[in-house]
Amino acid sequence: MDNETKPAAPGGPAPGAKRKRLLDRHRTLEKNATLLLAASFVVVAIGGIVEIAPLFWLENTIEEVDGVRPYSPLELAGRDIYIREGCYVCHSQMIRPMRDEAQRYGHYSLAAESMYDHPFQWGSKRTGPDLARVGGRYSDEWHVDHFIDPQTVVPESVMPKYDFLLRATIDGEHVGELLATHRLVGVPYTDAMIENARADFGAQADPDGDWDGLLERYPGAQTRNFDGQDALTEMDAMIAYLQMLGTLVDFSTFVADPSR
Ligand code: HEC
Repeated sequence: MDNETKPAAPGGPAPGAKRKRLLDRHRTLEKNATLLLAASFVVVAIGGIVEIAPLFWLENTIEEVDGVRPYSPLELAGRDIYIREGCYVCHSQMIRPMRDEAQRYGHYSLAAESMYDHPFQWGSKRTGPDLARVGGRYSDEWHVDHFIDPQTVVPESVMPKYDFLLRATIDGEHVGELLATHRLVGVPYTDAMIENARADFGAQADPDGDWDGLLERYPGAQTRNFDGQDALTEMDAMIAYLQMLGTLVDFSTFVADPSR
């Protein structure tokens, strides 16, 4: 109802007029879509800030876990190929804390295990199995055969062939820049890691490589000729990546932080 059509009460505003004014102002908001949108955004933003902002300062947001380290240059290149080929469309990398998942795939995934993933590869669909702990489950040869033609090892498989990985040679020319880019978004790559990136890249898949520096920088990195060919290929990088997935944390000694 419009205020002006009513006679003004003598001796000041009638009781309830203040409430009316507030409602009138709210009516303006309801009638103006842009204003309503802006005001809703402010309200939602306040809620968001209250919930999200503290996470950036709270110490226990990220549980530090022994063994978790940034990816070695070859593993990181393999991870890039994994993203390029869209493997995440069919595979998740996130074992949920439920009994059936833990029995099939192993210990549930820890947040710390994907702390150096930019972007994370949790995925949202499992046409194929979860890969969070696929490291060490199969031999390198099995992976090579499986990529060349999945149906030769799993006859009912609907996974496409990735045999071209075996022919795509790589030399790690830009792998230093790749590490530097990941450092920009918070992965603790040191100057030494970036300087030695290309050498480490080649050494990891070279049976005669100088592994000392590599293993010092990336403890537990697996070093061997992954695809069995002389040339360094995308297949080496991909298998180096898959074989380390889920192997960094020693779950025979891991104890979850009771405060979480
Ligand atoms: C169209 C969906 C699809 C795509 C894309 C796909 N996969 Fe698969 N993958 C499957 C299916 C289904 C299986 C299970 C049957 C088999 O082993 O082939 C599987 C199995 C696997 C396995 C064996 C896992 C296990 O625990 O037995 C690995 C490793 C794997 N895929 C890696 C990859 C990688 C790496 C890529 C990308 C280069 C990829 N897959 C792309 C569907 C897919």
